[in-house]
Amino acid sequence: MIKKQLTSEIEIYDDISELDKDTQELMKKSLEARKKAYAPYSNFLVGAALLLDNGEVVKGSNQENASYPSGLCAERTAIYWAGANYPDSKILKIAISASSVKKKNDQPIPPCGACRQAIAEYEQKQNHAIEIYFMGLEGKVVKLNSLADILPLAFESKYLEL
Ligand code: THU
Repeated sequence: MIKKQLTSEIEIYDDISELDKDTQELMKKSLEARKKAYAPYSNFLVGAALLLDNGEVVKGSNQENASYPSGLCAERTAIYWAGANYPDSKILKIAISASSVKKKNDQPIPPCGACRQAIAEYEQKQNHAIEIYFMGLEGKVVKLNSLADILPLAFESKYLEL
C-alpha cells in the first residue's frame, strides 16, 4: 500500500479591486448576470460569466423550475450555452457570484459538485485549464488556476474506453 496526498492551491483576494482589470470586468459581468437569475424557489441568485479565447463573454444565471430538479445552475447554463454556440472556442476563465436575495452575502461561494463535473469535462475537451474566480456580492474573491484543483480524481471520458 502507498499513500498519496492530493493538494491544491487557491488564491484569496481581499476584494474585486485586487484583480487585474480584465478579470474585474468579467466579475462585473457575472454580477450583472446574477440579476437575471430566475430563482423564485430558493431566492438564491447566481451569476456566471465566461471569457472565451475569441474574446466573447458568455453570461448565465441559475434558472429554477417548479419541478425543482429540472432547474439548472448558473455555471452550467453559461458553459452549455458556450459549448452550443462556440464549440471550437476555448473557455479561459469563469467568474461566479452568488448571494441570497434575503441577506447580502460577502463570502465566496464555490461551484456545486455537478457544476464542477461539467466544467471538468470542458477542461478535458479543450485540453486547457480554466481559471475559476468566485465571490459573494462583495468582499473576498477566490481564484483557482484550474477546476481540477477542486475536483481531484475526476471521472473522465478516458475511463469509458477501459
Ligand atoms: N446554484 C448555482 O447556480 N450554482 C451552484 O454552483 C450552486 C447552486 C443554484 C441552483 C439553485 O437555483 C440555487 O442556486 C440554490 O441551490
